[in-house]
Amino acid sequence: MLKKFILGKRQKTTPTLRDKIEKINKLPVPEHVAIIMDGNGRWAKKRALPRIAGHHEGMKVVRNTTMLANDLGIKTLTLYAFSTENWKRPKNEVEYIMKLPEEFLGTFLPELIKNNVQVKMMGYKDQLPVHTLRAIEKAMEETKYNTGLILNFALNYGSRAEILDAVKQVLNDNKNGILKETELDEKVFSSYLMTANYTDPDLLIRTSGEIRLSNFMLWQLAYSELWFTDVLWPDFSEEHLLEAIEAFQNRQRRFGGI
Ligand code: IPE
Ligand code: IPE
Ligand code: MG
Repeated sequence: MLKKFILGKRQKTTPTLRDKIEKINKLPVPEHVAIIMDGNGRWAKKRALPRIAGHHEGMKVVRNTTMLANDLGIKTLTLYAFSTENWKRPKNEVEYIMKLPEEFLGTFLPELIKNNVQVKMMGYKDQLPVHTLRAIEKAMEETKYNTGLILNFALNYGSRAEILDAVKQVLNDNKNGILKETELDEKVFSSYLMTANYTDPDLLIRTSGEIRLSNFMLWQLAYSELWFTDVLWPDFSEEHLLEAIEAFQNRQRRFGGI
């Protein structure tokens, strides 16, 4: 049924891609996929283009990745778009990145709505330019009743800050009698994080050959399957996503058991 639905919707899919999708749909797909979209700057540099050209190109990949994830029945796709450390970058690059949500949603929001995608954001909103936040909040509002893929942008997100804030909130709730120390367990602590409404990622993908987490979902990734590729984000194709999911399906998750 799902297979038919996918193949019906993706008429332009090539035969090899279609075969891969069919194969993948025979096994469970990860419920939550998180991606560290890295390598935009190097992609541009290789072409003697300014770094921002790489960020612009990366937008199309966000669109294609979202559509395929939605078609495959993945429930949540969290995309690391800007870290709390990325403010260290040159002003013009940061300003450009902060314009991308408007451009992305300006172009693709109707398609996201049509495909039942729900747009979300996690990260520190206060430091974001008003125009950036406004574009995201508009998309969140217009997609809030959608029931398909949750497209969750991690924007001005940092995991250590997130954990510290959760600890402070826990202390506060404890002081005010809302939460007893004996009630605090992993599940309750998770509910204080920005990911309170999502399951932990089953699969983490990082592009560009860097083998690190760069302050991304440190608590949530405790038992995720990790998949790294040298491919730079603007070159990340539907085939690469399928390859990562196929690798995930061949992993044996033990969660400490045998
Ligand atoms: C990822 O690409 C996008 C952001 C961090 C905003 P980079 O801009 O980090 O690209 P590289 O790592 O310099 O190639
Ligand atoms: C991680 O990439 C952040 C995002 C992809 C948004 P970076 O390019 O900032 O990571 P480092 O600096 O190489 O660790
Ligand atoms: Mg980088």
